[in-house]
Amino acid sequence: MGDLALVPASRLRTGVDELDRVLGGGLVPGSLVLIAGEPGIGKSTLVLQALAGIAAAHRALLVTGEESLAQVHARGVRVAADTDGVAILAESNLERVVEAITTHEPDVCVIDSIQTLVSEAAEGAVGSVSQIRQATGDLLRLAKERDTVIVLVGHVTKDGGLAGPRMLEHMVDCVITFEGEEMRAHRVLRATKNRFGSINETGVLEMRPDGLVSVEDPTGLFLAEVGERVGSCVFPVIQGSRAMLVEIQALVGPTEVVPPRRVAVGVDRTRLAQVIAVLSRHAGLRLGDQDVFVSVAGGARAIDPAADLAMALAIASAHRGTPLAAGSAAFGEIGLTGGVRPTGHWGRRLGAIGAHGLTLAVAPRMASESAEPPPAGVEISSVGDIAQALEVACPR
Ligand SMILES: Nc1ncnc2c1ncn2[C@@H]1O[C@H](COP(=O)(O)OP(=O)(O)O)[C@@H](O)[C@H]1O
Ligand SMILES: [Mg+2]
Repeated sequence: MGDLALVPASRLRTGVDELDRVLGGGLVPGSLVLIAGEPGIGKSTLVLQALAGIAAAHRALLVTGEESLAQVHARGVRVAADTDGVAILAESNLERVVEAITTHEPDVCVIDSIQTLVSEAAEGAVGSVSQIRQATGDLLRLAKERDTVIVLVGHVTKDGGLAGPRMLEHMVDCVITFEGEEMRAHRVLRATKNRFGSINETGVLEMRPDGLVSVEDPTGLFLAEVGERVGSCVFPVIQGSRAMLVEIQALVGPTEVVPPRRVAVGVDRTRLAQVIAVLSRHAGLRLGDQDVFVSVAGGARAIDPAADLAMALAIASAHRGTPLAAGSAAFGEIGLTGGVRPTGHWGRRLGAIGAHGLTLAVAPRMASESAEPPPAGVEISSVGDIAQALEVACPR
């Protein structure tokens, strides 16, 4: 293919560990990166902290079209970021921004935000498709020509769409989303596109009054409200190099519409439909006239075939009105015949379960030669099919 972009390049570490992790080890010279998130999530804080880290060893430039220099400096003081080495420019004219990059020759330049740039060469108002296309195109060329990293901050609307066109995502090398819930302090970074690394990694940060702090061990972070509750099942999800415990919740109730609702938040819709079909056919659960809602608590995600069993148990628990056994977690892929199949990362999933003090893992049968011993304190309940799993974890 001759894709030179895949030749490993020396990466620039930002010092924000969770951002570096999601990027695949740091920023790749000459790349164009989009950091997208809702207003107020912490994008400006993240890029300022990252630039302060970059500036320790490289040339860093921040172009702000949204805030005054005084506002940027005030944030720098609040989050105790050493911004002395960061050149800061309050500018929204694209031509002047390009000129500044050309003269300043930064190794890393952040544009906060791409939606504020206006070009004399493009039609349309600030933030319009034509303006964003012009600015992104010019900055892409500049990044490649000069081997400069250019990071674009992009606003996302409440419904999750990028304010501005999809084409922005196609033009850049990496898309990093920054998400969180207003009521909770933690924020999650994910790469939804990465020409230079995996898209499975997740970065977790905590928003504190003095800035964003990387969360080194987020294993149990999403389990804040865990307990013995109807319709709840803990699942150890693998995200890149990490295993995290998440809580899969289900709500089941008589429907008023035909066909009944199947709503999936944070889990795969198709797999949910399949799990429901298998529960009906192979475990005798009558769900044909029931709405089924399944979601992952705390805004976490469990897009992983091994989530099948946890989804099934959460649904069964909700349907039967009985909580699962205390201290239990479940993982395993469910086949269309009702069999529970082994999944990857057996040891890491059990490790996360044990690390959090849970005591029972409902899991697929493993060939004895490949099964590692479980961590101390964790009992494994091996199940071969869905009916057996229900018997063990959610008896009638
Ligand atoms: N003085 C403050 N004390 C504590 N947290 C603050 C303060 N000011 C802002 N924040 C936090 O920073 C967030 C805004 O961060 P910011 O980086 O400006 O977001 P964005 O650029 O994505 O709009 C707020 O939602 C709040 O959580
Ligand atoms: Mg901002």
